[in-house]
Amino acid sequence: MQPVISIQQLNKTYASGHPALQGIDLEIRQGEIFALLGPNGAGKTTLISIICGIVNPGEGRVLVGGCDIVRDYRAARSQIGLVPQELVSDVFETVWATVKFSRGLFGKKPDPAYLEQLLKDLSLWDKRDARILELSGGMKRRVMIAKALSHEPTILFLDEPTAGVDVELRRDMWSMVRRLRDRGVTIILTTHYIEEAEEMADRIGVIQKGRIILVEDKQILMHKLGRKQLTLHLQQPLATIPAELDQYGLELADQGHALVFTFDAQREHTGIAELLRDLARHGIDFKDLQSSQSSLEEIFVGLIKESRA
Ligand SMILES: Nc1ncnc2c1ncn2[C@@H]1O[C@H](COP(=O)(O)OP(=O)(O)O)[C@@H](O)[C@H]1O
Ligand SMILES: [Mg+2]
Repeated sequence: MQPVISIQQLNKTYASGHPALQGIDLEIRQGEIFALLGPNGAGKTTLISIICGIVNPGEGRVLVGGCDIVRDYRAARSQIGLVPQELVSDVFETVWATVKFSRGLFGKKPDPAYLEQLLKDLSLWDKRDARILELSGGMKRRVMIAKALSHEPTILFLDEPTAGVDVELRRDMWSMVRRLRDRGVTIILTTHYIEEAEEMADRIGVIQKGRIILVEDKQILMHKLGRKQLTLHLQQPLATIPAELDQYGLELADQGHALVFTFDAQREHTGIAELLRDLARHGIDFKDLQSSQSSLEEIFVGLIKESRA
């Protein structure tokens, strides 16, 4: 399938001389939720600002739905809705006027029924006649989303959508993102919250210091890099781990009531069978056991450490 966005060898150096993006190659698939995950200053906002035509690209090529973002700017931009990281809006306008105006900017025919539904979906309908400066921070953010969706884009960018928002809005935002995806909208979100990528994304790209260091299916990423932990809940608590079991790198938890074994789930030979035999030999009985996949957070921390090393 043709990618909906295609980025080739994109570099960006700001006037300050700071190389914000270096050799970015990235393809976004139609209809996916793609999370661009990286620490502050990694280049996330720069990358999406270039795709959306807000920041001039340096070298390289970006196609949106087959349209070059420089040569065919309007055609590229009209497919895109952007919810920026910073709230920017004409604060003296009403919610309704703002959203209507946004739609008009893209040359779309007025469609009050669509805008009404949009505001209702975002719990903004009651506030349609309020001026933006009268709204709370959370409500202002909802207005930004309404503006971004006012021209019925097929691609939606959310730059750090839940940074500093309350739980309710975060929940609403996530369910809205899923509804949009179900309607076929492609969604690209940036985040430095691992939980957000883990919860929302179909694929995850990790960006660090202006380079994409990894792009992977979320499930595959978890699987490939995942280490697992086996926790054994003991019949009798242990004060120390017998030296004979040193090779397993066990840890005591739950005040000696549990033993934790970390292993590589990808290996054919995990060592679990031997461990259980050795425990039996030492008379260590357990009443229950559970294994857990390590979270993407651990994976991410590992990656960042690796790329620094
Ligand atoms: N307008 C600008 N002028 C100069 N440097 C910038 C500008 N915008 C961002 N930068 C720098 O580029 C790097 C990437 O920034 P940014 O894209 O905002 O990262 P992120 O969104 O991942 O936090 C940072 O080092 C930042 O300081
Ligand atoms: Mg940013």
